[in-house]
Amino acid sequence: MKPPARLESTWARRRGDDKDMSGDPQSTWAAVDALAEERLGVGDAVLDEVTARGTRAGLPAIAVSPCQGKLLHLLARVSGAKRVLEVGTLGGYSTIWLARALPADGKLVTLEIDPHHAQIARENFALAKLDHLVELREGPALKSLGEMERAEVEAFDLVFIDADKPNNARYFEIALRLARPGAIIIVDNVVREGALLDDSGTNPSNEGSRRVLRLMGKTPGLAATLVQTVGVKGYDGFAIAVVGAAK
Ligand SMILES: C[S@@+](CC[C@H](N)C(=O)[O-])C[C@H]1O[C@@H](n2cnc3c(N)ncnc32)[C@H](O)[C@@H]1O
Repeated sequence: MKPPARLESTWARRRGDDKDMSGDPQSTWAAVDALAEERLGVGDAVLDEVTARGTRAGLPAIAVSPCQGKLLHLLARVSGAKRVLEVGTLGGYSTIWLARALPADGKLVTLEIDPHHAQIARENFALAKLDHLVELREGPALKSLGEMERAEVEAFDLVFIDADKPNNARYFEIALRLARPGAIIIVDNVVREGALLDDSGTNPSNEGSRRVLRLMGKTPGLAATLVQTVGVKGYDGFAIAVVGAAK
């Protein structure tokens, strides 16, 4: 079988007919992501346009990858989630993947501090014809989460935490209170190219990852794991937990 043009060098390395076997892991990971997207039909024109609009609007390229977005979508689907909470919207790329898993009477609440990101995201929700399912709350997530707790909003079935990493553990603590028993909580970017292992305490984002894992480990009735990921977004990982489940 002839490989797609962008995969030729990777396939040549795999076959061993490229003498330079040093390889660049990042380009291999990105090529495998590209192959998966192509073969599995991950993504579509709307999601591509959302990414392109983000680039044009100057948003940082820190959304989840297509394959990661599809993973979030599948987790929401298999769990039958009706209510989803997202901390960290950016341009709404992951929001759209998650919202597409919801039933017609579902709801997704997403929290974003940056007014420019929020404006682009709202436009993207309209573009994806999902604005009726998505509520974007603008402002610091801790403030919005506090308001939601005080208002005793209906419990969530799935929470995706992907905002400022130093606050990961605080978001997770509040997510636990806002989640129903059996809910899934996913925290993105906990591995940070292995910086998770750094115990120097000097990097607030690493500390955020380390704290959230410690907290997950000692929360009674929580089953959790960590999935390391490589791909177009480099080397990182998700922590995934189920609330109120046997370890
Ligand atoms: C990694 S991006 C989110 C990416 C998005 N989940 C996706 O995959 O498409 C993180 C977002 O969190 C927002 N953010 C950072 N600090 C925040 C805070 N304190 N409250 C709410 N949002 C925050 C940033 O402005 C940024 O848009």
